[in-house]
Order: sequence, then structure tokens, then C-alpha cells
Amino acid sequence: MTVLFVNAAFRKNSRTYALAQQYLSTLTDEIETVNLGEEDIHPLQKASLEKYCKNSRNYEFGDEMYRYAKQFAKADEIVIAAPFWNFGLPAVLHDYLELVCTQGLTFDLDKAGEYNSLCQAKKLVLIMTAGGYVPENDCAISYIRTLCKEFWKIDDVRYYYADGIDLVGVDVNAKLEAVVKQYGNTQK
Ligand SMILES: Cc1cc2nc3c(=O)[nH]c(=O)nc-3n(C[C@H](O)[C@H](O)[C@H](O)COP(=O)(O)O)c2cc1C
Repeated sequence: MTVLFVNAAFRKNSRTYALAQQYLSTLTDEIETVNLGEEDIHPLQKASLEKYCKNSRNYEFGDEMYRYAKQFAKADEIVIAAPFWNFGLPAVLHDYLELVCTQGLTFDLDKAGEYNSLCQAKKLVLIMTAGGYVPENDCAISYIRTLCKEFWKIDDVRYYYADGIDLVGVDVNAKLEAVVKQYGNTQK
């Protein structure tokens, strides 16, 4: 089993990163890490979009830009660590997911218009912390859930988060510990 750890929690002393490490320490599998804070990731723009559309049509995926999608497709479990930024995901994680969502690598579309998953993973875990409160049905988790449901057919999506941790007087450690306790209850 290979777990892919997608780390978008790269602030020094990141609480989200610490929570993710505690989750990963409960696993016995091999862990591959992609540190988004150190990767040279760009959103699809004019030139790269043209290449992406052409390559996707012709199923030609030799370019380096497809390395994230290939790695993602092969993983047995995906763990994403992301702080809650501007009521959503950090932009670099969005850009990464844009590249992961390459038709022909992590999903395909059949003649009837149905999406088929090309991913091995059956489980995805999103770990998040937020300074304030996360609204119900927030767009960060909804977006990840939609990708899992529509493209990758990953049914087991777990969302662990501590919110309100920047509020004055809050017991941050207690909030983080409460999340760690949930890991124990929900392991396979
Ligand atoms: C760029 C940026 C945007 C943020 N936007 C929000 C926000 O929209 N809502 C919120 O509750 N907290 C927001 N925060 C606070 C973070 O969610 C909070 O500090 C989080 O715990 C950071 O995680 P970390 O310790 O892993 O870096 C933001 C922080 C930063 C740096």
C-alpha cells in the first residue's frame, strides 16, 4: 500500500501539518510526500492549457507536468493537509488539483458521457485547521468531495478539522487533541 501525502500546510510550525503527521503516524504503509510549498506549480495558462488539451486528446503524457497526476493515480490512499484560506483551499493546492485532474490519467470519459476513475485509491483524507469557524457546506470540502465522487469514484472521504483555533482565549491544544482522538475511531 502506498499513501500519497499532499502537503499544502507549509507555514513554519503549521498546526495542520502537525495534525496530518499524527494521522500518518497511525498508518503502517509506505508514504510518498509532495510538498506543495516547494514545488514549482502553476495554474494552466495559455501555453500550458494548449499543451494539456492536445496531450489529453492524444493520450500523450510524457511531459513533466503530468508527474503529479501519474503519482496520484497510483496511490492507494490520499492524505491532504491544507489550512483554511479565504474560505477555501490554498491556491497552490487548487493548481495542483488542476494538474491531477488530467483526463486520461486520473479519470476518463466514456461515450455515454460517464466519468470513469483511473485512480487506485478508495480512500481520501482531508485534514484542515481554520482560524475562525468553517461554514456548513464550505466550498473547500465540497470541492474535494465532488472530485472524489465524479472523477475518481472515491467513496471513503474523511474530513478532520479543528476550527476557531485563532480565536482569543481558545484552548488550541484541546481542539487539536479532539481531532487526533477522532483518528482512533475511524481507522479501517
Ligand atoms: C492567507 C490566509 C488566509 C486565511 N483565511 C482564513 C479564512 O478565510 N477563514 C479562517 O477561519 N481562517 C483563515 N486563516 C487562518 C488560518 O485558517 C488558520 O490560522 C490556520 O490554522 C492556519 O493553519 P496552519 O497553522 O497549519 O498554518 C487564513 C490564514 C492565512 C495565512
